[in-house]
Amino acid sequence: MQNKYLGLTPPLGWNSWNTFSWEINEELIKTAADAFITEGLKDAGYEYVVIDDCWSEKQRDANGKLVPDHEKFPNGIKAVADYVHSKGLKFGIYSCAGTHTCGGHPGSFEHEFDDAETFAEWGVDYLKYDYCYKPDHIPGEVLYKRMSTALRNCGRDIVFSACNWGNDNVYKWIRESGAHLFRSTGDIQDNWESIKKLALSQIGNECYGGNYCHNDIDMLVVGMYGGSVNQWIASADAEGDVAVVADAANAATGARLGGCTDEEYRTHFSLWALMDSPLMIGCDIRNMTPATKETLTNKDVIAINQDIECRAAYCIKQWNNPENVFSLVKPMSDGSYAIGMFNFGDRDGEMSLQFWDIGLTTASGRGLDIYDCWKHEALGTFTERFCTTLPPHGCMVLRAKVVKVK
Ligand code: GLA
Repeated sequence: MQNKYLGLTPPLGWNSWNTFSWEINEELIKTAADAFITEGLKDAGYEYVVIDDCWSEKQRDANGKLVPDHEKFPNGIKAVADYVHSKGLKFGIYSCAGTHTCGGHPGSFEHEFDDAETFAEWGVDYLKYDYCYKPDHIPGEVLYKRMSTALRNCGRDIVFSACNWGNDNVYKWIRESGAHLFRSTGDIQDNWESIKKLALSQIGNECYGGNYCHNDIDMLVVGMYGGSVNQWIASADAEGDVAVVADAANAATGARLGGCTDEEYRTHFSLWALMDSPLMIGCDIRNMTPATKETLTNKDVIAINQDIECRAAYCIKQWNNPENVFSLVKPMSDGSYAIGMFNFGDRDGEMSLQFWDIGLTTASGRGLDIYDCWKHEALGTFTERFCTTLPPHGCMVLRAKVVKVK
């Protein structure tokens, strides 16, 4: 029987794609699993170690089985899964609804049930399922339903992570397909424009996520600073906008093309947390800067993302600067609010949140006890409203408890 809590809250983990893309191997995955422990990620709640595309040979074997790349994974995938499990973590892998993966490796089209069984034999706990090379005349809806049925009948609990980039009106059918999360966006890139674009694209889609079927805005770029073997991720965005250059010296040598500031990475992490996206780390977790580690392991922010009710935050725009400044307000299961205040503009921006707008009238005799989740300090009790000035691309994340003030 399936574990009825599988996928209850958004998965937390690490995925190999953003930094390593096709340059993956057994050693990398094992040392990444080690880093979950040594860098405090497991402690902060991260659980899934996920291998993305390019882990298999280009051909199936004579029996139609997927074959792990002999050079990258000489001991097979099960050995890696066993190692990950020995650390008290869970193991994830990648396939595709089409005939081939985006990297040109065999996809699971017409092999769904056999592949699900193979994954179960190997000890897979999480499957990311992409959308490249999808046969034109077969609806994606049917293909995700097929793999979902296969996974639910393979004898192992496997989180099903659908990845069709928001195509084909995925919002309308993904929950009923049985997927536990669904990508609603195209691929993230390691620059501020991309972060902004992905976040904005999902404001207004709050009603589609929720327990057991989370809206996945894509993996995190926190801590990458432009470092990726995949220049598409590390470079300027698809519209040709110039990337934000985090480190001018490295950029001059061509070593870093994209990247964000630590403040932008904090804003990115806060957005993803408040929007109930899975938090799948994409940087090299074996070599994190202190700032990256601090961002990724902020337990106050992770707790907001992991609230058991998974009620997505709603958006309240700053009335005199609605294009750039807004709050995301998420009702928490303990009665408090989680509030993110964001400035997407390139100048300082003032945000003033009127409590009236979140259901708390002054006449109620109640106010908010506010705690700053990045500074880790209590800010005091406020009535009627809370105002602040946010730096460009900056944010504030608050936990606010309703209290009597008279
Ligand atoms: C697609 C997905 C990415 C990644 C690559 C792998 O682009 O959206 O997240 O999995 O494929 O090829």
